[in-house]
Amino acid sequence: MTAQGFFISFEGPDGAGKTSVMTAVAATLAERWGDQRIMQTREPGGNHIAEQIRAVLFDDANRQMDARTEALLFAAARRQHVVEDLKPALAAGQIILSDRYVDSSVAYQGAGRGLGMAQIWELNQYAVENCMPQLTIYLDLPVRVGLARIAQHRADQVNRLDEEALSFHETVHAAFDQLAAQHPTRIVKVDANQPQAAVVAAVLAVIKARLGL
Ligand SMILES: Nc1ncnc2c1ncn2[C@@H]1O[C@H](COP(=O)(O)OP(=O)(O)OP(=O)(O)O)[C@@H](O)[C@H]1O
Ligand SMILES: [Mg+2]
Repeated sequence: MTAQGFFISFEGPDGAGKTSVMTAVAATLAERWGDQRIMQTREPGGNHIAEQIRAVLFDDANRQMDARTEALLFAAARRQHVVEDLKPALAAGQIILSDRYVDSSVAYQGAGRGLGMAQIWELNQYAVENCMPQLTIYLDLPVRVGLARIAQHRADQVNRLDEEALSFHETVHAAFDQLAAQHPTRIVKVDANQPQAAVVAAVLAVIKARLGL
């Protein structure tokens, strides 16, 4: 592979393993290319401004937040992430691994909050200005399995979005499936309902194939 940038996002329902699988994948890729070549980031976040927006979004005291306010804040954080971090990293030839990106907004705010998947897609295209991942790993597993993992391992870290009703999470999951069907080249579905090592191996195989390794 040449020293060209490559952008990979990790998506899927809560507790699918995005954070843990992405961390393991990044470590393997860093062994091959060195730490400098790999950029690990998350949304909302990645820089000082976006992390401040993240704190507002996940603050338990903000339960009265309007759904469109929420969608605009996610898009605003993403915009800052693109300008300050993602575009410079791609220009420098880095491989970006992002824990969530546009698809999460389309699934959670567009479908889950009922704002419309197409509307949230458009809002985010305005925010990202063509900076879309070349590859999206969709970690797919039943909603109940993901929520059970969170309850078992991370009960202390549950945020106000995790606490939505089961029907909300089912709607979000169906939206990820719909996005995968709409973008079959970019989005690759990986079965996340298997031991973590198997999920990591499957994701690495997809990435290597896509990078021509
Ligand atoms: N394949 C797996 N099998 C069993 N447990 C797993 C697996 N992958 C991750 N876990 C565990 O499930 C929990 C949720 O994983 P993780 O935090 O990586 O998910 P996530 O998709 O990032 O969740 P969130 O959407 O809430 O950020 C963690 O405690 C993690 O150790
Ligand atoms: Mg996570």
